[in-house]
Amino acid sequence: MSDNQTAEETRNFGAEVGRLLDLVVHSLYSDREIFLRELVANAADATDKRRFMALSDETLALPESPAIRISLDKLKQTITVADQGTGMTREELAENLGTIARSGTAAFTSNLAAQNPEDRPSLIGQFGVGFYAAFMVADEVEVISRKVGAQEAWAWVSAGRGVFTLKPATRDAAGTIIILHVKPDAEDFLEPLRVKTIIRKWADHISLPIELEEDGKFQPVTEGSALWRRPKADISIQDYASFYRHLGHMFDEPWATIHWRAEGTLEFTALLFIPSSKPFMPVEETRESKVRLHVKRMFITDEAKLLPNWLSFVTGVVDTEDLPLNVSREILQTTPVLDKIRKALVNRVLSELKSKAKDAADFAKFQENFGVVLKEGLYEDTAHAPDIAGLLRFASTKDESTTLDEYIARMPEGQSDIYYLAGTEGASLKTAPQLEGFAEKGYEVLLLSDPIDAFWPTRMSRYKEKNFKSASQASDLFAAAEADPAITAFCAALATSLGDKVSSVTASTRLKDSPAMLSAAEAGPDLAMQRLLRRAGRPVFGLPPKLEINPEHPLVKALAAEPEPGTRAALLLDLAKLQEGDLPDDPAAFVRTVAEALCK
Ligand SMILES: Nc1ncnc2c1ncn2[C@@H]1O[C@H](COP(=O)(O)OP(=O)(O)O)[C@@H](O)[C@H]1O
Ligand SMILES: [Mg+2]
Repeated sequence: MSDNQTAEETRNFGAEVGRLLDLVVHSLYSDREIFLRELVANAADATDKRRFMALSDETLALPESPAIRISLDKLKQTITVADQGTGMTREELAENLGTIARSGTAAFTSNLAAQNPEDRPSLIGQFGVGFYAAFMVADEVEVISRKVGAQEAWAWVSAGRGVFTLKPATRDAAGTIIILHVKPDAEDFLEPLRVKTIIRKWADHISLPIELEEDGKFQPVTEGSALWRRPKADISIQDYASFYRHLGHMFDEPWATIHWRAEGTLEFTALLFIPSSKPFMPVEETRESKVRLHVKRMFITDEAKLLPNWLSFVTGVVDTEDLPLNVSREILQTTPVLDKIRKALVNRVLSELKSKAKDAADFAKFQENFGVVLKEGLYEDTAHAPDIAGLLRFASTKDESTTLDEYIARMPEGQSDIYYLAGTEGASLKTAPQLEGFAEKGYEVLLLSDPIDAFWPTRMSRYKEKNFKSASQASDLFAAAEADPAITAFCAALATSLGDKVSSVTASTRLKDSPAMLSAAEAGPDLAMQRLLRRAGRPVFGLPPKLEINPEHPLVKALAAEPEPGTRAALLLDLAKLQEGDLPDDPAAFVRTVAEALCK
């Protein structure tokens, strides 16, 4: 009758609670040591809640100096975490710890939502699953709790397999004790050193002190400062410096300290530092940003790549309220919250660099340390490349250190491009033969000596409407020399004898003191880039180099006057190669020719 199989009905999902717990325990966290962070977070929340409740009811006030106290017992194989927070009643134990994904803390927070926006505590819990992380390392968990204001205490005991037991217990004061009976394979968590390391890593900055019992006494383990959460006005330069050293295991002073709180749609606090010296590891190897991500003071990860690689020298902390504590790797990669934070951080660091760049000498020190890293942005980050390029200082033929804007301001009438010469042989750049004609024209050339300098100008291609042009190309700037028939014939003969080693041989007006030089075709890589490709064993695309000769040079004149411009003429190519820091094709033959010539 009532047993009607065709009528519509709504049913609750069933759940294999034991299996669900298993999933939570074993799939939620990649790192077993996280259990301690979760228990500490809960203890901190409970204490903050009690502090808040005491605002309206003095009888609930916290004891003198509240702390989270951890004890390790190797004999009994237990880890104990005790707090003096709100504690839980029998019903609360059953509800909060006996219902997966029920968060008493989230309920507490949402009850507050309507009132007290000012002094509402910032609580960590919200998902109601963190507690179960205890079962990663424990085969039995006992929770003994006495609710603040109540007389009786209750114990909740479970092996994490879907059932729990509640029984009366005794406890002198309000608060909660969690006793983990450690699994045989998790015994290393009974080592004081291990526990201290874990706490310092994940919970160094929660405001409540954490103490570990050693030789019968409780000793503080954490810094507890969360310096970034304090108002700027209360923080001294020394405070910042010692925090910077603590954070990055550094010994110097920060070159720049950037501390701000973003408010509005996205809330976070950032405290970032730029070191004043290079780290021990070569900067090129610390490729990824290690800026730490915290959620409500709790450390989450330093692998969230909060800053791009070209700012990987920046250290520090970002602390946000807008992410869950147990945020997973997948969420870290996809959440729009992090993307927005990243954007804000980049802009803030860039604007700090911009203001620091006003002091040229000071900025030069920074660039000495991290310029090569920053320059990666010119190459990798088209959106920010113009800003970065505007900051950097370069050596040039007219100035030890110039910005691109200063360079542009000095450009004489008729010059429309920015000229540069790249090459890692810093010292010889200044005397490179390619530059000879530029001085006469009054054109300044940037001398770029970092390896990456061979790449970014072509990648960026222009700055403020001005094209970057390599001085090792740019042959069109210089008129061909007046055609003396003897020289023209010499060029043609040389071109034939050199074959496909060069794409052309021309007499140019670019050279003043040197007999010959190489230049690269306008399209394709310049000489510096070709050299890097060659040294990296990569194929060099584009045409072979052009040989430009100086028709006024005595050596060229002498060679051109010879009846047969054979091997001796090939010397010009070898000399030009040497000037580039490359070897002649056949060094031994080169030496014989030179020796012979010198003995004449
Ligand atoms: N030490 C504690 N003192 C008081 N209440 C606690 C304590 N630990 C856990 N709880 C209660 O148990 C709930 C579940 O904890 P948890 O699984 O860590 O989830 P969350 O912290 O995300 O709420 C908490 O919301 C809180 O109500
Ligand atoms: Mg929690």
